[in-house]
Parts: sequence; structure tokens; C-alpha cells
Amino acid sequence: FRTLDDLSPQGKRILLRADLNLPVKDGVITDRTRIDRLAPTIKELADKGGRVIVCSHFDRPKGKRVPEMSLQPMVAALSAALDRPVAFVDDCVGPAAEAAAAALKDGEVLLLENTRYHAGEEKNDPALSAGLARLADVYVNDAFSAAHRAHASTEGVARLLPAYAGRLMQAELEALDAALGTPARPLMAIVGGAKVSTKLDLLGNLTRKVDVLVIGGAMANTFLAAQGHAMGKSLQEAGMYDTAREILAGAAAANCEIILPTDLVVASAFAAHVPTKEVGVDAVPADMMALDVGPDTVAMIESRLRQASTLVWNGPLGAFETPPFDAATVAIAQSVAGLTQSAGLKSIGGGGDTVSALKHAGVADRMTYISAAGGAFLEWLEGKTLPGVAALETA
Ligand code: 3PG
Repeated sequence: FRTLDDLSPQGKRILLRADLNLPVKDGVITDRTRIDRLAPTIKELADKGGRVIVCSHFDRPKGKRVPEMSLQPMVAALSAALDRPVAFVDDCVGPAAEAAAAALKDGEVLLLENTRYHAGEEKNDPALSAGLARLADVYVNDAFSAAHRAHASTEGVARLLPAYAGRLMQAELEALDAALGTPARPLMAIVGGAKVSTKLDLLGNLTRKVDVLVIGGAMANTFLAAQGHAMGKSLQEAGMYDTAREILAGAAAANCEIILPTDLVVASAFAAHVPTKEVGVDAVPADMMALDVGPDTVAMIESRLRQASTLVWNGPLGAFETPPFDAATVAIAQSVAGLTQSAGLKSIGGGGDTVSALKHAGVADRMTYISAAGGAFLEWLEGKTLPGVAALETA
């Protein structure tokens, strides 16, 4: 795919697909990571004389003009991150958008209204793609985190204009290639989270690609139960035992070593600072539940980490939002950060909870790379083709 190194922005109108789908609570942006990581691309284009027309979806208005889902409130945050004014127009296509785009001067930045106000966005309607293409001379996609959607602004328009990857898109793709494409081995993955059922494809793909796979979180309970361990009141999916056994058999066939917990931290209720016990996986009391992996398991994971060259991490090992069940996740996160800094471990993390867990452990800036994506990172780990990326590759 082409990057900004292949584009001379001077005097060009550039349609930039960003992901401004930031977490907002009571009208306040609670995490500006995505804006901060997008800003260098916009600055680079504008500093080189480009006329930057930013478009994005926000939330899921499903083709209606839901006022709470306007991108207008993002203008101030974007302008602060860019340290320059940002104009706004209340539609992403049509006469007003075309006039605003045409009026831009070199180095200026315009933000368009939520692309999902049009039903054609999620339908990848060629009419909407054409409307977007009319605004600009070239297209830059910097929204890796929306690249798993085949939408008009992520896929359709990339086929109508000369298309390039922005710096954040480029960084994400390079990090992911270092993780699963052409990784330094041994390659290890840590997968946690609550449900086997939501991570089936991911587990299947990873067992075919990685040398060591650690399974933690509540999904480990399902695997342990499938192996015949009594799990007490632990969260698990009784319908997934056969599937869990198939995943283990597939891993054995692919020479992928699976690490499941050997000990667990249990409590009689899921609440902060309840009394806890550390037990072996064969000794979970009938009236208690597993909420974190235990110290022997942590030590085993750490010993494998010391041998690994690359680590991919998705999902916490325990119920980390509720202390003390953050202990294993924090301990492993700190080991990973230490090995990344001192032993050249390539550590790549991403997907929803993972980033919060790494931030909670205070190591988010000491990993090799943290993806800004949630669902797109997961689909990529599942081995799926991301339509937004595919469109850049064939462009
Ligand atoms: C995300 O936040 O993961 C992306 O912006 C995609 O959002 P969506 O799940 O609403 O498509």
C-alpha cells in the first residue's frame, strides 16, 4: 500500500478517514488517545500545504441525525490536538460539504459531520462514496480501528480516489505484521477475557500461528472444566466444552504449547476486597469462584516470557477492574514491560479491555506497540481480511 511518503499534499484536497469514535460520557471525552494518535497525520498533511477534509463515524446513529452523535463537539478537542483552527460543516456530502471543501486554503483543516448520519455509509452505497469522492483529490485512510467495516468512507471511496495509508494506519499495520506476519520467534500470545464463544476464531487462528498460547480470564474456566476440573461457582460456558477440547486438540496438532492456569485465586463473591484464597485447579471449593490466575501460573507465564521474542496480548488474565483480582494481569504486564525494555521482547497489545488493563498496570508506554483499535485488532488476530486495508492494498 502507498503511504504519505508517496503523496505530495501541496495544494491538494485530501479526504482523511479518521476514527473519532472516542469514548464520551455525559458530553465529555474520557479518553483522547485516538485523537492524539491521529494528530501527526493531519499535521503532516497540513504542514505540507494539504487541504485536509476529515471524516469519521461516531457511535451508531443508524442513518439518522441523532443530535447526541454529532461530531461538532469534537472540533475543540481536534483543534487543541492540532494546535490550529478546525472548521466544521454539518454534513459529510452534498452542497454544503462541497462548498466548505472548495473554500479550504492550503494548510487548513475541515471536519465533516458524522458519516453514519447517512444510511449509505454502513451499506457501502456507491452514491455516498461518490459524494465523498467529489470533495477531494486524494483519499488517506488513517482509521485502522474502523478498517474491519466495509463502509462507504472506509472501503467504497478508496476505490474512487488515489488512496494512501495515513501514519497511524501504517504504524498499526507494521506492528501487526511484526506480531503475526513475519514475527521473531518464539512467538507467544496471551489471550484472556470472559467467553470462549466470542474468541473462537481468534483462538483457532492463534493456535496455528504461535508457539506458546496462554489462555487466561474466565474463558480459562471453560477449558479447565472441559478437562474435568470442578470449577465451583466460576463463570464458564457449559455449552463450549467440546469446542474447548477441539481447540486444545488443534493446538497439539499444530505444535502450539497451551498454557492453562494451574492455580487460581477464588472468592465466594465477585466484589472488591472480598476475602480470597489461592487454590490448585483441582481444589476449587463448590461455593467459590475463580476470579484471577494464581502465583504459580504467573511464574510459569513469566518463565515462558523470558524465552519469547514476540508477544501478542489480548484480554486480561483476571477480573482486573476489581482489586485484588488485578494482581496477575498487573504482574504479567510489568514483566512484559521489563522484558520489552531490557531484553528486546517485541510486545504488541490491543483490543478493548487490554489497553485499559495495560494502562491500569502503568505500562502502556513501555510496550513495543499498543493498538488504538478494538474490533479491528480482534478481527485481524482472527486472520480475517479487513476491507479497509484490502482497499488500500489494491488501490
Ligand atoms: C471502534 O470503536 O471499534 C470503531 O470505531 C468501530 O466502531 P463500530 O463498532 O461502531 O463500527
